[in-house]
This record gives sequence, structure tokens and C-alpha cells, in this order.
Amino acid sequence: MAEVLLLNGPNLGILGIRQPEIYGTQTLADIEKSVADEIAERGWTLRAVQRESEGELIHAVQDAYDTVGAIVNPGALMIAGWSLRDALASYPQPFVEVHLSNVWARETFRHESVLAPIASGAIVGLGALGYRLAARALMEMAEV
Ligand code: DQA
Repeated sequence: MAEVLLLNGPNLGILGIRQPEIYGTQTLADIEKSVADEIAERGWTLRAVQRESEGELIHAVQDAYDTVGAIVNPGALMIAGWSLRDALASYPQPFVEVHLSNVWARETFRHESVLAPIASGAIVGLGALGYRLAARALMEMAEV
């Protein structure tokens, strides 16, 4: 059974109560369900992982070489998560970077992503919809 990795970084486990005016009111569980529903049409299942620390996210990537693609919201690790970037550079399938908020409309320290240059694409500023669109992109790209 083909699986998609949905990886969320620090502070994304509290979506719903975390600055809802920026990140929306959907919880991470809501988002995980919507992505699972989206990929179900292809018979794919979801492996959802959220961790607060970079090391644990790296382990999740290293354990997911058997998945067909990944959706990654690194949170603030976008700014300097070099070890996570190295882990994703060895991930053998495409991954899409997602940010709920439009990071380029925010503080300048959020304008750079160390992951984006190795991602297949990035979706920012579309809220929870961005995760579903990323799932659709993976379904288009995947060869399975
Ligand atoms: C975020 C944007 C990041 O700058 C921030 O640190 C987050 C959330 C987003 O989804 O908009 O934690 O990745």
C-alpha cells in the first residue's frame, strides 16, 4: 500500500489555538484527515508525523524512504534547518513544502527557506488548503 509522509515541524501540533488569525482554526488532526481523504482516491494512505525537534523530524524522514512522496511544513526550521534539509536531500521521492501563512508577507526572517531549493515545489499562504493541493501535486508527480 502506497503511503505519503506528512511531516509537520515545531509548534504545528497546536494548530487551531495557535494564532488563529495567522494560521487558521483547523487543527492538525483536521488537516491530516483532509490530506488522508484527498489521497484515498488513489488508494494511498497517510503517515502523519509532527515533532517539536529537528532530530526527531530527521528520523521520520530516514524511516520513510518507502513512502511515495512527502508534504513538509518545517515551521521555523525553514529558516535554518540545515540538518533537516540534508535529510530531505537523501529522501528518494518528491516532497512539497507547505506554509499555511504567506511567509513573504511577514517578517523578513521568514523570507528564506533552506528547504525550498531542493523541494519539488512550495505552496504558501493558502492555509490548510495548501496541504490538500500539495497532496494533489504528489499524485500528479508520482509514478506509482
Ligand atoms: C509556518 C511559517 C513559519 O514561518 C512559522 O515559523 C511556522 C508556521 C506556516 O505554516 O505558515 O511555524 O511554517
